[in-house]
Amino acid sequence: MEQTARSKKSSIVLALDFPFEKPENRNRLLSKAERTLEIVHPYICAVKFNRHLILPLGTFNGVQKLIKKAHDMGLTAIMDCKINDIGSTNQTIAEYYYAAGFDALTANPFVGWEEGLKVVFDVAHKLKHGVILLVYMSHKGAWEGYGQTICNAETDGKTLQYASFAKKALKWDADGVVVGATYPEKIREVHEILGKKIPIYAPGIGVQGGKIESALKAGASYLIVGRTITLAENPAEAAKKIRDLANQA
Ligand code: XMP
Repeated sequence: MEQTARSKKSSIVLALDFPFEKPENRNRLLSKAERTLEIVHPYICAVKFNRHLILPLGTFNGVQKLIKKAHDMGLTAIMDCKINDIGSTNQTIAEYYYAAGFDALTANPFVGWEEGLKVVFDVAHKLKHGVILLVYMSHKGAWEGYGQTICNAETDGKTLQYASFAKKALKWDADGVVVGATYPEKIREVHEILGKKIPIYAPGIGVQGGKIESALKAGASYLIVGRTITLAENPAEAAKKIRDLANQA
């Protein structure tokens, strides 16, 4: 992904999200997703999927076709599944998504290591795939969980939840972390903890109010952009504009 980003001069991860469509219109939805990928791919380095397509198209039906298409275009395919359950369930979820062809998955560190995310990292790293941890989400209520001040034996005092998650990302050997572009000050703090060891993925650009320049200047390596591109009248033009603005930042 790093190589693709460099060669295509793009740090943009396309969130291939579309609004609800009646299930009987799933073929139309698949065609729309294929078409968007075809016209937008010159301006992006990876594509991120969410339930928006998994639910109507199915992991091993429509989505697997899209993953193959993304791979044929040299793009990394990320599943934003935010794994968040007990270990045995997490393992099965991860195995299915990797079997479908995804290169990396997102996971929620709130669930912890033992009998939580350890198995996901074990499966991922055995397959040489990635796990990206949520460290601070992009929505307004993110502070209620990720922004809490916590006190535990491990940290020997008080610390912020997201700072603790950033340290866990280092300890667990995560391949990326997510910090909302809507909180550039949090990106900066997390970047100070991670240095260059783990890249920061910043969603929330455009519709959610995050700004390209402030996210990149604070230390984000990749920008995740969905509706600003997928719902644009001309998605290719929108993606190119964002890519160019990111390169000027
Ligand atoms: P938009 O349309 O807002 O889409 O550009 C953003 C995409 O990213 C997902 N998203 C997140 N994923 N942590 C995540 O793992 C976050 O903080 C976060 N914020 C947004 C969102 O679901 C959509 O697919």
